[in-house]
Amino acid sequence: RYKKRQVACRGDIDRLNNPFLEIYESLIPAEEEKAKQKQLLTLLEKIVCKEWPDARLCLYGSCGNSFGFSKSDIDVCLTIGDEDINKSEVLLKLADMLQLDNLQNVQALTRARVPIVKLMDPSTGISCDICINNVLAVVNTKLLRDYAEIDLRLRQLAFIVKHWAKTRGVNETYQGTLSSYAYVLMCIHFLQQRRPAILPCLQEMKTTYSVTVDNVECSYFDQVESLIGFGSRNRESIAQLVWAFFSYWAYFHNYANDVISVRTGTILSKRTKDWTKRIGNDRHLICIEDPFEISHDLGRVVDKSSIRVLREEFERAAEIMQDDPNPCVKLFEPY
Ligand code: GTP
Ligand code: MG
Repeated sequence: RYKKRQVACRGDIDRLNNPFLEIYESLIPAEEEKAKQKQLLTLLEKIVCKEWPDARLCLYGSCGNSFGFSKSDIDVCLTIGDEDINKSEVLLKLADMLQLDNLQNVQALTRARVPIVKLMDPSTGISCDICINNVLAVVNTKLLRDYAEIDLRLRQLAFIVKHWAKTRGVNETYQGTLSSYAYVLMCIHFLQQRRPAILPCLQEMKTTYSVTVDNVECSYFDQVESLIGFGSRNRESIAQLVWAFFSYWAYFHNYANDVISVRTGTILSKRTKDWTKRIGNDRHLICIEDPFEISHDLGRVVDKSSIRVLREEFERAAEIMQDDPNPCVKLFEPY
């Protein structure tokens, strides 16, 4: 059903760099927005410390991993040392305190998969979700941010891919398509696989950073300042990379057998992961290994009908990149 095509890069590909860079520039948040996020975090810290003096607040998700768009909500993790706290109680207490401090739309969602408190800060206009002790998310946020320091093309590519996924409606995990986190991992893996490589595999290098979270050891090389320039032998432009990324997912990825793995910087087989059978709702139709929770497939949300949607969208994007005189218009056309 899916097309296999041997594609060659179009001759005028570099003419497309500027339009892509303009889109990237238009999506990155301004410095004043970052300042407002900090301001809100400081306010929240003050409130939280009244009740839990040892607690800490960390940004995670797109506002902390450097892949956040302008005007996006922020995700905050409250870490309380005590392991056996009752999360629902803490969230309800927190919600009361936030309300007393005049934050708006305060809502505790204690039964969600990741229980949170939602709020809106009227002085900055920023909305925020606060979760508790989600330390793995804080650590994988740091990993993504560290990768982004090494080569600017990662941030450019991931912004374009996320923007495409959002406008095309394939960034909705509740509808069986992929999370932003999954798309960023796909971009990192793709750049690890270019020849010459544009990104290294930080988890295969000497450990300079290590934490153990919920019995998962998270360690990797985090002195990324020393890796700036790592990918400079590869001169591919952003337009070439966007084209090659979509071609890979449209025509070359082996959906039947392969698992992409940022942890190893390679492709693993579904067989070695034991991801060949459907267990419960996990179907493994597109396999993206979480870098730390290695039994976790970020493609698990994808089902029989949404895999078709995704693959058709990859093909559509690859075809536009191949033939369209103005790909930036059509690529981001709302579906
Ligand atoms: P946008 O809000 O779309 O800009 O992106 P985001 O980077 O905030 O991504 P997303 O909402 O997908 O995820 C938020 C954070 O949750 C990620 O950065 C990860 O740190 C963490 N996370 C850990 N495991 C998962 C998972 O299985 N799915 C998702 N969605 N997030 C995870
Ligand atoms: Mg988010």
